[in-house]
Amino acid sequence: MTGKMLRVAVFASGTGTNLSAIVDAARSAPGFFAVALVIVSRADAGAGARAAAAGIPCAHISSATHATAAERDDAMLELLAAHRVDLIALAGYLKRISPYFIARFGKPILNIHPALLPEFGGQGMYGCRVFEAVLASGAKASGVTIHLVDEQYDHGPIVFQEAIAVLDGDTVESLAARTQALEHRAYPLVLRRIAEGEIDVGGGGSDRRSG
Ligand code: GAR
Repeated sequence: MTGKMLRVAVFASGTGTNLSAIVDAARSAPGFFAVALVIVSRADAGAGARAAAAGIPCAHISSATHATAAERDDAMLELLAAHRVDLIALAGYLKRISPYFIARFGKPILNIHPALLPEFGGQGMYGCRVFEAVLASGAKASGVTIHLVDEQYDHGPIVFQEAIAVLDGDTVESLAARTQALEHRAYPLVLRRIAEGEIDVGGGGSDRRSG
């Protein structure tokens, strides 16, 4: 690959298994993308410990650190600029991204969701609640969605979707395990395809190859 490497910021609120999958993939195939920054919305997020263990700069930004939403947005934008971030990957980040932030960042923001959007998404739909809803619906398929972020939760143009079967006897735990295994393959794959210019997500994707 001759283009510049895609500098990714991962935003997380929870355990951070997707963060680790992205970091591991970036390091095992260097030159396509790298995690330049992690932002967590909770001081005790497992993702923060994973970032520290990986030696990646990590900031906790929340109402505990900045009183207003505008201050939080500006603090995040400042960090993103300082770390020359090309793209944000939300990975279990539970805060809404504001229209102001989206406009000011001006580069792609992705989100991963553990179901086939537009079903089973929206505010409050994360973690076990998603898998409970899928199982309660009787759906025969579930899966993973990666999409560009707009100002609504789990909403925006879909860039990747892959289905898995919901099996007879599936529990929240078994469906979660298969879904998360797919997530851990899918997010690095999508980031690499963006870096290679094979998925166009606008400013910061295929354009980078000419830089
Ligand atoms: C992931 O399963 C991700 O899809 C989900 O949060 C989990 C975070 O896990 N996001 C949503 O449900 C968004 N609505 P992780 O912290 O282990 O990466």
